[in-house]
Amino acid sequence: MRVAVIGSGGREHALLWKLKQSPRIAELFALPGNPGMRGLARLCPVKPDVASLVAEVLRLDIDFVVVGPEVPLADGIADALAGCGVSCFGPNAAAAQLESSKVFAKQLMRKCGVPTADFVIFDDIHECERFILENPRAQGRVVKADGLAAGKGAFVCADDAEALAVARRLLCEHMLGNAGQRIVVEEKLTGREASLHFLCDGERYLALPPAQDYKRALDGDHGANTGGMGTFCPARHATRELVRECERRIVEPVQRELRAAGTPYRGLLYVGVMLTQDGPQVIEFNCRFGDPETQVMLPCLGYDIFAAMEACANGTLDPGHYAPDTSQHAVCVVLCADGYPDSYQKQIPLIAPTASSGQLLFAAGTAEQDGQWVSNGGRVLNAVGLGDSFADARANAYDLARRALVPGLRMREDIALSEVA
Ligand code: AMP
Ligand code: GLY
Repeated sequence: MRVAVIGSGGREHALLWKLKQSPRIAELFALPGNPGMRGLARLCPVKPDVASLVAEVLRLDIDFVVVGPEVPLADGIADALAGCGVSCFGPNAAAAQLESSKVFAKQLMRKCGVPTADFVIFDDIHECERFILENPRAQGRVVKADGLAAGKGAFVCADDAEALAVARRLLCEHMLGNAGQRIVVEEKLTGREASLHFLCDGERYLALPPAQDYKRALDGDHGANTGGMGTFCPARHATRELVRECERRIVEPVQRELRAAGTPYRGLLYVGVMLTQDGPQVIEFNCRFGDPETQVMLPCLGYDIFAAMEACANGTLDPGHYAPDTSQHAVCVVLCADGYPDSYQKQIPLIAPTASSGQLLFAAGTAEQDGQWVSNGGRVLNAVGLGDSFADARANAYDLARRALVPGLRMREDIALSEVA
């Protein structure tokens, strides 16, 4: 089989690394990929819009497409590929609304009784102001833009004044353009977070081992929200019983609802949950693999993920077939550009240290310039450590991260520290 992975980040590098192990795949293509992936896949420069991607897939005679990022899914790449007879792992645009519209996701959850923070939707600032003033919340609220905002659309506000200011910036000053034309104002939840991933075939699902992401830029969970500064897997606080509860109360009703709507969910369903005192509550859905969760989950699978992806695309997933590698522990440390997630420098010259046994270096925001490997994004490299224990996995990850750290890059020092203390 000729298999293409769409995207260019650390998640896609990890997907290629895992897919490379599948006996079913003859050749891998990265559309467009990044220079760090060269040993695994043929890099195919291509514009990121759906029409250009589909044309490239057809030109390369690809049999199966794995879609990394959310934007092509929201823009209907699964629908377009289906129209051309090419198999694809990723939901169609209607089902991808679980991520591309917070309003869609919240309304669907309310309709089918999925536990999530209570919320109100606004497109009018006066109504929003009135609501917030009439319903004061001492503990603060969360304001979210409806549309895709590259991870920058959720604002955890300390008090009502801040929530009002954010609502004005979104609805009146159009800070996020069309994505913020409608907003969701929701209750602030407290608890520990976990990232749950499910491979779905429209009806059945397979849970991947739970991961934990570190969203804040600085140690101790301080600083700005980012796309993710590090991860570990398995997240033991998301126990088997808790995952089972999430399957029953979240995944099953959502799948049932989308199937009934004629848009069954086929692909990866990412459920971000807050484990509150009242049980798990959904914080967000994503219609694709998490980044950097993928970098730690895939090494913890004891099976060929491509076989499961094919079964999802065909609607023939047998979850009993696939078991995680329960002895494996994985830790990922993200090396990002100084200043990320605000303004940061690009074209930082990079080095590629040799990964020893138990280490994997995945490349994220990187490019090649005049023969030199340089950064071209905020999250630049992912140092993954594996081991029989979190202590070993963490030591491996930080050893590799320190060897890859060059001036202009930084990292958090406390990834997975809670798991070894
Ligand atoms: P989202 O873009 O919806 O994933 O939100 C980004 C981050 O904001 C989440 O990972 C949480 O840390 C935080 N967050 C989102 N919604 C809530 C909520 N209702 N209560 C508390 N924190 C939240
Ligand atoms: N790491 C969070 C995400 O991929 O959305």
